[in-house]
Amino acid sequence: MNQTYSVEAAWDSLEQLRDQESHLSIQDLFRDDPERAEAFSCEAAGLYLDYSKNRLSRATLTALLQLARGAGLEERRDAMLSGELINITEQRAVLHTALRDRSGRSVMVGGEDACALATAERERMLAFVDEIHRGQRRGATGQPLDTVVNIGIGGSDLGPVMVVEALRPYAIAGRRCHFVSNVDGQHLSDTLQDLDPERTLFIIASKTFTTQETMTNAHSALAWFRASGMDEKAVAKHFVALSTNHDAVAEFGIAADSTFGFWDWVGGRYSLWSSIGLSIALQVGAGRFLELLDGAHAMDEHFRTAPLASNMPVLLALVGIWNRNLEGHRCHAVLPYDQHLLRLPAHLQQADMESNGKSVDLQANATAQATGPVVFGEPGTNGQHAFYQLLHQGSDIVPTDFIAPAISQAELGDHHPKLLANFLAQPRALMNGRSLTEVEQEMRAGGADEETIALQAPHRVFPGNRPSNSLLMERLTPATLGALIALYEHRIFCQGVIWNINSFDQWGVELGKALARDILPYLPAVGAQATAAGADALDPSTAHLLAWINERRQRA
Ligand code: F6P
Repeated sequence: MNQTYSVEAAWDSLEQLRDQESHLSIQDLFRDDPERAEAFSCEAAGLYLDYSKNRLSRATLTALLQLARGAGLEERRDAMLSGELINITEQRAVLHTALRDRSGRSVMVGGEDACALATAERERMLAFVDEIHRGQRRGATGQPLDTVVNIGIGGSDLGPVMVVEALRPYAIAGRRCHFVSNVDGQHLSDTLQDLDPERTLFIIASKTFTTQETMTNAHSALAWFRASGMDEKAVAKHFVALSTNHDAVAEFGIAADSTFGFWDWVGGRYSLWSSIGLSIALQVGAGRFLELLDGAHAMDEHFRTAPLASNMPVLLALVGIWNRNLEGHRCHAVLPYDQHLLRLPAHLQQADMESNGKSVDLQANATAQATGPVVFGEPGTNGQHAFYQLLHQGSDIVPTDFIAPAISQAELGDHHPKLLANFLAQPRALMNGRSLTEVEQEMRAGGADEETIALQAPHRVFPGNRPSNSLLMERLTPATLGALIALYEHRIFCQGVIWNINSFDQWGVELGKALARDILPYLPAVGAQATAAGADALDPSTAHLLAWINERRQRA
């Protein structure tokens, strides 16, 4: 905590400001402040953020910055970046930033230099990538390994799949990359259906190497590979592991020279920059992978050095705090206007909700404030024809981030101008809305009779005054993508600091895993007899559902 600024006083003044300025709409704020669009925007690491379409005044922004200082944001940021054990429930440092720091700086953790460790492992991994690309490393029968199947889930899937999709135009010709995450066997079977085992490299990506979904898929993939006639020597050429758990990898049967490691100071949802990014490097090449890292590092440097008042992740976080805690909005939509950012919302959903979906603070007390919102999203314009109805006229207000490149990776006719017109129109519609008077006038001008107007006009009103951020980049490149992901990572961190929570553990996922393990023995294979013994110890609803399922599976 910063002694000069009091968190309590900052929350108090924010509440006062909210009440005093409750009559002001976003449009009023623009009317009163001709410089607003410029003042409420900033540029960093190839990204441009406009946060002017939020219902917050300059005074509010000043109070939010006081809140950040009071919460010790600068000190906590420096603690994270210097390798302090800020993940207190797991006694770990949080150093995904070291993975992308190629400046030659040292960050010591547990007596070792995290940057040097990261560099050495990355060089090993990129040498492996180069060997595959050059055809020096091939499959057991001499075929090129041009097909990758990444088996992982959560952070060992979502980050890589999102980046591979986003960098589609940068993919090396002829390479194919598949991702299998779900323990639903259909995911693996569907993927393997058309694959040639002789050309396929399986990447088993799991920080812990104990995750049920991943290990089940890995064993089934191995069985499929062996069933195709491949022997043990071939397995060594076609299976690699990405993990921190070297013993479990060895037990699975993957040799140390086919294992790329990382460290407990890399959280799963922050791991795409580590060896977990192998599928990315194989798809786009070592050079592009490094550009991705450098883009993220540029954002890290901005975050580390820019004053809070012009610090993009800090500002984005504070706007989110205002919308979540002062305005009481429970959701947050991420809306990329770029088809290749299709999986960005899913990645950010994990990054944000697993990090900040907490209700106990660092002192083990109930949190004083509401924490992370529900995050969801879909690329524009698809989302417009699905859930934007609720964004415009629903009873809940959903703050939104609109994201777009000025120039498309694939300029085709007038597609991109049309996409951008929508990107610009939606936040405008959310802000301006359309009043009853405007609707009535329009309907009258269109020749509607008074009865129709009375019936329909209220349905056509848009309340407006709905907040949004707009994030732009010139083009979606490996570097700007890296900066974009890092921006959100730091936004999440800043909000965690202000809520005084640990953003880097995930105890909330454990109970479901344990209960699934308990239930599994009651679910025999199709056609087999279920053992009901002990199932009645489950709650009545679960026991009933189990009986219904088992009856059908036994009959099948
Ligand atoms: O269950 C949640 C989680 O632990 C995530 O935090 C993580 O990204 C995912 O599972 C996968 O974990 P692992 O990489 O250890 O298989």
